Amino acid sequence: MKELFGKLADGTEIHRWSLENGGTRIKVLSYGGIVQTLEIPDAKGTYANVSLGFDTIEEYVASSPYFGALIGRYGNRLGEGRFVLDGETYQLSVNDGDNSLHGGAGGFDKVVWEVEPFEKGSDVGLCLSYTSVDGEMGYPGTLDVKVTYTLTERGEWRIDYEATTDRATVVNLTSHVYWNLAGEGSGSVHDHELEIAAGRYTPVDSGLIPTGELAEVEGTPFDFRRAKAIGADVRAADEQLLHAKGFDHNWVLDKGGTTEPEPVATLRDPASGRALTVATTEPGMQFYSGNFLDGTLVGTSGRAYRQGDAVCLETQAFPDSPNKPAFPSTVLRPGQVYHSTTVHSFGM
Ligand code: BGC
Repeated sequence: MKELFGKLADGTEIHRWSLENGGTRIKVLSYGGIVQTLEIPDAKGTYANVSLGFDTIEEYVASSPYFGALIGRYGNRLGEGRFVLDGETYQLSVNDGDNSLHGGAGGFDKVVWEVEPFEKGSDVGLCLSYTSVDGEMGYPGTLDVKVTYTLTERGEWRIDYEATTDRATVVNLTSHVYWNLAGEGSGSVHDHELEIAAGRYTPVDSGLIPTGELAEVEGTPFDFRRAKAIGADVRAADEQLLHAKGFDHNWVLDKGGTTEPEPVATLRDPASGRALTVATTEPGMQFYSGNFLDGTLVGTSGRAYRQGDAVCLETQAFPDSPNKPAFPSTVLRPGQVYHSTTVHSFGM
């Protein structure tokens, strides 16, 4: 179903699509490709909206910390908002201190996507497309982006990203859903248990830019190889946690960088029994523990979001890769196709 959600200040109409399949319900906006709500049942069949979001387009435009949005051209941070490619330096839009975060001030979360619904066999979905012009937010090349949201008959939410360019550029697309499996607005997720199949992570400096090191998680708060409550170590006096006010780091996925999506993380709410498994083709995943939610934003439940009320699991290339030659490359050249897939499965 398609309906008018609201209008931007310049009169542009923003639409909302509602989809349902295999027990999962999702509402998607043409603005930012935003997942406004995502509802799944618990063991008793009671539905909850497990994704943080707003009721109005005005709130998304004014103050959203990327709730549910598509992120591009480059997920997470590029140090000093700058990179060198083929001997040329590109200065990007800077929107996080000296750094460029999630594509800059006018990233893919703030553009209007063309949306086409589809049905394919037992799947239903939306095809979102956007052309980012050469030089947008400082990035070289005209980038044609296609993102497909599919709800499968098993209730999985699958995202397929594709992009092509007419000049060498860098690309790192992701999705910024804030998960609370007890239901958005229900409080802290510190009791949720998280498992991440990663023996290493990328430590950051005080500006949250990776130092370039791949550090072992063994013996640190970053060890989620066995399911562990998010709150168990989030207050540890660890320099890395203090930099970010909690977890806000990229995990180096053990199976990372595959052609078919591999399961890499599971989030579980013991109270409701709802669980989310993330499978991806990407080499990394940013686990962000909602550290900067500060009680000033009110969500669709009518309740305010406070620190630790949700987590993001952003499958991605490593932050700042264009400035870290040892990290997997994020360069896309004319004639190549950027592909990335992430599948979210829900269960008990
Ligand atoms: C980043 C955080 C940032 C948040 C959005 C996350 O992906 O890692 O540092 O604050 O997005 O507000």
